[in-house]
Amino acid sequence: MRDKTIMSEKTTLDLVPGTGSQNYTFLVGEHVYLRTFAPGDEKNATSWRNSIFPKSPELVEKWIKEELPNEGKRNRGHLAIVRKSDDVLIGSISCYFGDVSVFATPHVDPLYGEKGQRWLAEAIVLAAKWQVDENFSAALYIDISSDMQVTIDEVIASGFIETARFREMYEKNGKRYDQVKLYYFNAAWVERLGSPMETVLPRTGSGEVRPVPAKTVLEGDPPVNAVMVGARVYLRPEDKKDAEKTAGASRMEEESFWDIGRHLVPEAKLAVWMSEGRDDDHPRNIWFSVCLRENDEVIGSVGMLNVDFVNRTGETGSFFHEAKWRGGGYGSEAKQLLLEYIFDVLGFHMVQSFVYFPNTRSAAALRKQGYREAGRACWLYTYEGGFGNMVVFDLLADEWRALPRG
Ligand SMILES: CC(C)(COP(=O)(O)OP(=O)(O)OC[C@H]1O[C@@H](n2cnc3c(N)ncnc32)[C@H](O)[C@@H]1OP(=O)(O)O)[C@@H](O)C(=O)NCCC(=O)NCCS
Repeated sequence: MRDKTIMSEKTTLDLVPGTGSQNYTFLVGEHVYLRTFAPGDEKNATSWRNSIFPKSPELVEKWIKEELPNEGKRNRGHLAIVRKSDDVLIGSISCYFGDVSVFATPHVDPLYGEKGQRWLAEAIVLAAKWQVDENFSAALYIDISSDMQVTIDEVIASGFIETARFREMYEKNGKRYDQVKLYYFNAAWVERLGSPMETVLPRTGSGEVRPVPAKTVLEGDPPVNAVMVGARVYLRPEDKKDAEKTAGASRMEEESFWDIGRHLVPEAKLAVWMSEGRDDDHPRNIWFSVCLRENDEVIGSVGMLNVDFVNRTGETGSFFHEAKWRGGGYGSEAKQLLLEYIFDVLGFHMVQSFVYFPNTRSAAALRKQGYREAGRACWLYTYEGGFGNMVVFDLLADEWRALPRG
């Protein structure tokens, strides 16, 4: 998949049923084979589109013709899973080509039941062996719901390893299911660097969970535009003007361990990001500026990425501009206000969080806020002559509600 733009000349609709796989020397398994998408595939898009929302064939055809050819520029590629016996499309695998590893999102039409789960496992293993054993990516990994146990068992039998489990991340049929992170690692890289599952995770902090601060009772008016108010800080919507402060802080950054090196962030880009999604009823990102109550100074931001209103989950994040505002509990105070917003105002069920291994302070802060370590996401970035990992966390609304209150 060196050329990440994947679109074939022909759809299987042009073929004598059951002959399609004969056109391939690779990516062909016992029951399924993988091919690119082509105009015509919109006709049974419901089987391969990974969405619970319907889309007309006209719109899917537009995607195939106009957007798919540009997906390579976004480091993305899409594969159709086709049944060998009759060339019917039964699912898809979408890939994001990261700097080190490939993230694959597998999907099979759920109407095929257990049979479909087996076809999906075969397709995932074909893609993994191709990308990892043949193209030498460090790893290929998937996130999959724990109700897909047949697929999970079969890919594990073919060499995948479970590296993390986010509890109760999906809601289906009135039940909650975990998200399971599964990796297929390149054996040569493991031999050279060792297994990332054995890399020691450095730790700081006491590891003790602290009480959630009691709700603040305001004596006068709330701070202007405040959404949540704590003892020392309050959260308000981000303002385009905050971009100047954040961009300035990035130029004056003193620490390089909490991300992979320091970044110069252009103010104009930040201003767009800070105003993105504002008019949307269901935004994909929800961010707040964290301000000091004593003088309204903006000292950081907290928020949620990958907001999923169907499953009521998201990924939390925090960032305090200057080193002087870090390590003094401001981040934990602001996070508790954010969690109150997420669980009590939005009514969400769980949150997850990702931390680079060297950022021990952020991981310590999550532990004191009540998050639970959920495993690791491996080999995501280049680091000190090898590949680096992230430690991942989750927190359920019920667990947060049961935390001691200050
Ligand atoms: C991550 C962040 C939001 C946490 O907020 P905070 O106010 O610093 O967190 P707290 O002070 O409540 O807790 C920090 C914990 O780390 C420990 N810690 C403090 N300074 C540290 C340091 N320099 N290195 C390692 N650990 C440190 C503390 O002991 C404390 O744990 P403990 O109370 O159990 O002993 C903040 O530090 C920050 O903005 N960092 C830069 C951006 C960032 O890392 N964002 C997160 C990306 S995943």
